[in-house]
Amino acid sequence: MLNSLNRMEKAFDIGLDSLVAEKRPPAPAPEIISGSPQRGTFYLETFGCQMNDHDSEKVAGVLLSRGYRQVESIDAASFILYNTCSIREKAAQKVFSRLGEFSEAPSQGKMIGVLGCVAQQEGEKIFHRSPWVNLVCGSASYSKLPELLSQLEAGEKRVTGLDTDTDETFETEMTRRDNPWRAYLTIIEGCDKACSYCVVPFTRGPERSRSSDSVLRELRQLAELGYTEVQFLGQTVNSYADPAPRKMKFSELLLVAAEMPGMRRVRFTTSHPRDFHPDIVEAIENNEKVCNHVHLPVQSGSTPVLRAMQRTYSRDEYLEKIAMMRNARRPIAITSDIIVGFPGETEADFEETLRLMQEVKYEAIFAFKYSPRPNTPAQSMPDAIPEEEKSRRLAVLLDLQRKIQTDANQKLIGQDFEVHVEGKSRKENQWSGHTSCNRVVNFSSSQPDLLGSYVRARVNGVTPNCLIGEQTI
Ligand code: 5AD
Ligand code: SF4
Repeated sequence: MLNSLNRMEKAFDIGLDSLVAEKRPPAPAPEIISGSPQRGTFYLETFGCQMNDHDSEKVAGVLLSRGYRQVESIDAASFILYNTCSIREKAAQKVFSRLGEFSEAPSQGKMIGVLGCVAQQEGEKIFHRSPWVNLVCGSASYSKLPELLSQLEAGEKRVTGLDTDTDETFETEMTRRDNPWRAYLTIIEGCDKACSYCVVPFTRGPERSRSSDSVLRELRQLAELGYTEVQFLGQTVNSYADPAPRKMKFSELLLVAAEMPGMRRVRFTTSHPRDFHPDIVEAIENNEKVCNHVHLPVQSGSTPVLRAMQRTYSRDEYLEKIAMMRNARRPIAITSDIIVGFPGETEADFEETLRLMQEVKYEAIFAFKYSPRPNTPAQSMPDAIPEEEKSRRLAVLLDLQRKIQTDANQKLIGQDFEVHVEGKSRKENQWSGHTSCNRVVNFSSSQPDLLGSYVRARVNGVTPNCLIGEQTI
């Protein structure tokens, strides 16, 4: 999980190297709901974070339930959709280069849709730049998708969903989930924090929590479909504020979810340090089914930089949260996001970040070069750091993290872990999966048909990014 990503912050989704996940849905969703008309075919490509991945699963559900059929190639599609990311400039540029390839779309009878953060950020400007685009819709307007699709089906050429002034969350009758064993479940959308570098509050709108009743209803359905692991999602998942009268706290929701018959693992991401309190650690300590992994982005180890970033905590306050976890009765894996080269970041500030990493010894990090984003306060801050210097700092930081991970992983040799098996290698008897603490384990077993099951594996080797082992039970 050591990463300098231009691709995005898949804090949990780690590549399975040579392993291939054979997808065997416990209860495959019907492709077309009976009674709905047959429409065209759609191709949907997703950029960015897990929230986007899951939004795409829901968008696919909306399209399937209207009678569209999903295809895996652009050529076979009559409706091409991109669910986009604008967190860093490169991610946004990628979308425009993709859109540039479709000038012939109208003459081929194809429709093009732009969803997600670039759609929200650029709005109708997308029509000027790529006049062949038919749909521009930000994530805060997805609940209007059926209406927007009706307009397109009725022959309208350009439709938009761009309001962010909403208290709605996006709930669907049907979601076409990609992973047959681990289900995403969004519990809070949007973000009310105002980190000075970040576009998310603009592109995803204000924080909206789903009611605990609705979350638990969906969780029950997931358990009935055979899912055993759920991942609660939110940009600031632990800022969850139940709008239902029972006002369930986030930590209570974790514990209630863990007790759902059939559920074996409950995870959550991403946590914000400001709202990270002892009750969350207690939930992890007291219930084995609440996964012992916390993704708690620090962004910088320097208090002045944190202040300029408007992160709402100091280095010491952050380290108190870390101490709370490191002192827990159950070991908790901690991962983080770090930005290097924020405007005004001095060499001394950067070294504070390196020192913090040495102190915390993160199990994994995602590190990024600061990228100026439209509408954000940091965009116009003085003392921008040159690109080469950002690259240098990133390389130094990743090198340090590689050493930290190698040392930490070495200490795990001989230990047993429970692994949720999600991948099967092309190599005979080789499998892969995740531990509760979200480490990847590649292991050998002579047993057939382990996909989706939970097994114990003993670690007998390591790389910086994964554990290698063999099945014990
Ligand atoms: N530049 C670089 N990285 C960013 N992130 C968010 N905005 C920016 C930006 N403008 C990173 C943060 C965040 C992660 C999702 O992306 O580290 O936690
Ligand atoms: Fe962006 Fe900060 Fe909100 Fe995270 S907490 S989504 S970094 S504004």
